[in-house]
Amino acid sequence: MKTLFLSVLMAITFLNSSAQVLRPNYHYTPPKNWVNDPNGLVYIDGEYHLFYQYNPFGDKWGHMSWAHAVSKDLQKWETLPLALPEIQNADGSTTMIFSGCVVVDSFNTSGLFAKGFKKGLVAVFTSHVSKPGQDLAQHQSLAYSSDKGRTWKYFDKNPVLDIGLTNFRDPNVIWWPSEKKWVMTVVKPLEYLVQFYSSKDLKKWTFMSEFGKQGDMSKIWECPALVKVPIENSKESKWVLMLSSGHRQAGYLAMQYFVGDFDGKSFKSQKQNEIFYLDEGKDFYAAIPFYNLPKTQKNPIIIGWTNDWEYANDIPADEGYRGGFSVARKLSLYNSRGVFKFKQEPIINHKVKTETLTLSKNYVLNSNLGEKTQNSYRLNLEVDLTASKGFDLQLLKFENQYLLLSYDVSTNMFSMDRTKSGKVDFSKRFPSIETIKILPQNNKLQLDILVDKSIVEVYVNGGKVVLTDLVFPVNQATKEIFSFFK
Ligand code: FRU
Repeated sequence: MKTLFLSVLMAITFLNSSAQVLRPNYHYTPPKNWVNDPNGLVYIDGEYHLFYQYNPFGDKWGHMSWAHAVSKDLQKWETLPLALPEIQNADGSTTMIFSGCVVVDSFNTSGLFAKGFKKGLVAVFTSHVSKPGQDLAQHQSLAYSSDKGRTWKYFDKNPVLDIGLTNFRDPNVIWWPSEKKWVMTVVKPLEYLVQFYSSKDLKKWTFMSEFGKQGDMSKIWECPALVKVPIENSKESKWVLMLSSGHRQAGYLAMQYFVGDFDGKSFKSQKQNEIFYLDEGKDFYAAIPFYNLPKTQKNPIIIGWTNDWEYANDIPADEGYRGGFSVARKLSLYNSRGVFKFKQEPIINHKVKTETLTLSKNYVLNSNLGEKTQNSYRLNLEVDLTASKGFDLQLLKFENQYLLLSYDVSTNMFSMDRTKSGKVDFSKRFPSIETIKILPQNNKLQLDILVDKSIVEVYVNGGKVVLTDLVFPVNQATKEIFSFFK
């Protein structure tokens, strides 16, 4: 008989929990109504700002406006009043405030602030003009704030960039110090093209170059961002172009990225023989980086929307809100046999109660962490696969309800199966399984699992692979069962 020597090191981290059934504890969700993309992520004076696509009038997509929340630790968020409302125009059309970014105009390049004022915030967003049943235009516009995002004025000469298209959106702007200019990354969604523009004052923009028509083109391209990412264990960094588009599985949405170089004018990707997806789950989209992080924070931090347009408007909204956000993630790059890839680390700042267990040979873990924390916890596993055929981990388990994570050593395939995870029948597209090849490291698989009621984020092998999925467990008194394959 084959000798199996298996061990599992387990660190269990408890997080605060509340009586809410599906509303997460340590992921931000709005008090009520519909949300989609995070917008204008910016840090200033000790505060992280999360603006986001929001419908002030209902729990389905519509009347897009920017809502606002702030946090000191990227985890406990306080919701502030609506920032940028939809605009009713004199001709009967409306301008919705689509996705975009916020920059700190510390040199008052825009001239929108009082002389010498260093803390002016400028929102650069897509102005989407429509009449009932008719989309008229998408162009880029500005709003500005002198009080750290509490109140805003729309620029009176909007739009600032209009190329005559009805699909042209999601500007993300960075400062390019060597030429004292702003660089905007923006997308032509239907053409799978990212464009780069430059400006000295945020008001007048000049086309520089474009990049695209490669990678995943199974869905339109949205929400691009250009970000400088340090390479781990080195002083070097690379530019990464990330954007939202299709998923490995037909029809679903995900994010892809290209690693390369940017010289202030154009982006060149490294040779990538496969498509790099940022998150292999179904529910991570439209993530963008924070602008103006403290100098000591060299790694970019992103937040994504935890939902998928395939069923976004149909997910249960029993608690009055629909949609939410991932935890903040720190990005770095590592060298994977000659190509650079992302590594993502969740930022969890809560005080945590940690339990560490060493589990051995054929161990069957049967814990009631879910029951104790009302399904809001973190589970850190190191699974030793030496002589193992693989394992099953049932999370959020109550009788026949569970979210199943599995690993098959013979194929190196990791899977996340939510077909039995609770409420799944609100959309035909919701019950689904993701399967992705992951090689063990030193015969081990590391799993850092964030379970937060209806959002599950799984970081495998130090965040080299991440899967984010929504789940809607019906019963709250759940447990976790881990077993190696026989
Ligand atoms: C992405 C997106 C963006 C757009 C916004 C509208 O989810 O479609 O391209 O700006 O949502 O709400």
